[in-house]
Amino acid sequence: MTNVAVVGATGAVGETILRVLEERAFPVERLGAFASRDRTAAVQFRGQTHDVQATSFERLAPYDVVLFAGGDDASKDLGRRLAEAGKLVADNSSTYRMQSDVPLVVPDVNPHALRAARLAPVANCSTIQLVLALKPLRDAAGLRSVRVASYQSVSGAGRPALERLEVEERALHGPQPVDAQTPFPSAIARNVIPQIGSFDDAGNCTEETKIIEETRKILELPALHVAATTVRVPVRYAHSEAVFVETEREIAVEELAAALAAQPGVKFVADGIVTPRDVEGQDTVYVGRLRAEEGSRRHFQVWVVGDNLRIGAATTAVRLAELMLAARRAESAA
Ligand SMILES: NC(=O)c1ccc[n+]([C@@H]2O[C@H](COP(=O)([O-])OP(=O)(O)OC[C@H]3O[C@@H](n4cnc5c(N)ncnc54)[C@H](OP(=O)(O)O)[C@@H]3O)[C@@H](O)[C@H]2O)c1
Repeated sequence: MTNVAVVGATGAVGETILRVLEERAFPVERLGAFASRDRTAAVQFRGQTHDVQATSFERLAPYDVVLFAGGDDASKDLGRRLAEAGKLVADNSSTYRMQSDVPLVVPDVNPHALRAARLAPVANCSTIQLVLALKPLRDAAGLRSVRVASYQSVSGAGRPALERLEVEERALHGPQPVDAQTPFPSAIARNVIPQIGSFDDAGNCTEETKIIEETRKILELPALHVAATTVRVPVRYAHSEAVFVETEREIAVEELAAALAAQPGVKFVADGIVTPRDVEGQDTVYVGRLRAEEGSRRHFQVWVVGDNLRIGAATTAVRLAELMLAARRAESAA
């Protein structure tokens, strides 16, 4: 049994981590719930109410496994320090993802890269579902370029963003006060916003840069051409992506369908459509609308949908902790 700390336990991802730990019967002996400040009886785990404590190294030190979902500020000083102190750390922030000595692993894509790591960043939510769809295509025909347009749910920006959508939706149906403070650069109700994060000099926003860099690292294709436009849409849960792929080698669309159907963690939808509402609360990434562009044997399109809070964050964090724990147990047994 293991002592497990969840940092950011009151947030959208942290709360989902608590549910995933329960569902997967993670061997939790003692649970610690942490956030930016102390609160009494603020979260539930296995039918019991738990207090939440402000986060510090000293308070986290008694735990064997630390799952961070508290934003960049929560883990940037503590993640590596805890791993160096022998803790197993999974971190949903972007702090460690692109550091060259830290592996970036999606369990059904590149588990080999984890090796004996004690610090495992969870990749960006849009990137996780993208690479799950791309891996079988890479293995079947190689990848020359990937272009993606995303349609990302508001829960991807956390609990305050979900609350903001609700406030704006209510205001559409009558005179309701709408605070000027919003996590979004524009109105989100009945709108779409082509900006997630801040813009760099080249005109890419942060979310786009994460997709480009992290996809290359996870797929071990450092020269892969990746382009992204990321868009926030007024959907509560689950991100969608329209993905345009150019393969290295010619291949029949039927062979790509077979490769997608065989990919663990992916459900290939051969007929019909799948929408964010269909996948809420699931760990499976759905890939559909596979087609070749005008009969091409090298240019293909797919539609990819996954729950950002589950496979895009919490479930992947818990699975990384499971893999690190198994590796540590195997090492102690050897
Ligand atoms: N939402 C997603 O789909 C998603 C997907 C992948 C990755 N992520 C990443 O996961 C992390 C959490 O996101 P979220 O969507 O769950 O956000 P959220 O709903 O806003 O929750 C943030 C949580 O972090 C806590 N927190 C904030 N600052 C902290 C600090 N300095 N030390 C300790 N705890 C702190 C908050 O506690 P208080 O309540 O005390 O402020 C709250 O529990 C972020 O790094 C985000 O980028 C999110």
